[in-house]
Amino acid sequence: MEIVIASSYDDMSRRAADVFAAQVQQNPETVLGLATGSTPIGLYAALVKDYEDGAVDFSKVTTFNLDEYRGLDPEHDQSYRYFMQKNLFDHVNIDVANTHVPNGADPDAEAACAAYEAGIAEAGGVDLQLLGLGHNGHIGFNEPCDCFPVDTHLVQLTESTIQANSRLFDSIDDVPREAYTMGIGTIMKARRIVMVASGKDKAEIVKAVVSGPVTPEVPASVLQLHPNVTVFVDAEAGSLL
Ligand code: GLP
Repeated sequence: MEIVIASSYDDMSRRAADVFAAQVQQNPETVLGLATGSTPIGLYAALVKDYEDGAVDFSKVTTFNLDEYRGLDPEHDQSYRYFMQKNLFDHVNIDVANTHVPNGADPDAEAACAAYEAGIAEAGGVDLQLLGLGHNGHIGFNEPCDCFPVDTHLVQLTESTIQANSRLFDSIDDVPREAYTMGIGTIMKARRIVMVASGKDKAEIVKAVVSGPVTPEVPASVLQLHPNVTVFVDAEAGSLL
């Protein structure tokens, strides 16, 4: 596991974005795994800038997002599809048909998740996967539990995640209680993984993820077992390393 401690949020975002820009430059038909949450917003802004500068061409890129709330339409302003359109897809020359987010509007969990997993396999797997980090160590929506879920699946969100994400909804009652997420197995199959974490409130969990025991109680700790992971943190999130 390579750990990069950046001086600031902007520095972290730029350096992590450089990995994605280089990936697309080297392989224009690359398959990217993408993430939501507040942390990657700066990275997406840096990629939009690269596109505007003519440095990156997204026209042949395929993307698969980690997760989506179950029960939200793609047009809902808190859906992860909406987030991706607003922060990246609407601002670059990606073909929207090549962008994939689990279908939260499909109530048939088994069908929705199986189709998503099959789509990733058909695309040849993920070349470079972006991850944020939940305060409890979750990646995607893989919450702490007693096993590592393998494939894309339906999850019940924990109270702490519902609480953390309620800041983005009008009221906590509006936060969906369920989501579809890539499994830990899906994530670990990516050929390269980049994680971003920023802020003092992530320092404890970053430390547990990179140097604590590998346990499904801290889902992101499994990344210690992946051969090609880079963790980008700002100085605050890296303060306990
Ligand atoms: C959500 C997402 C995760 C994300 C996490 C942290 O629950 N499902 O993919 O990594 O929140 O978000 P933030 O970056 O806003 O702290």
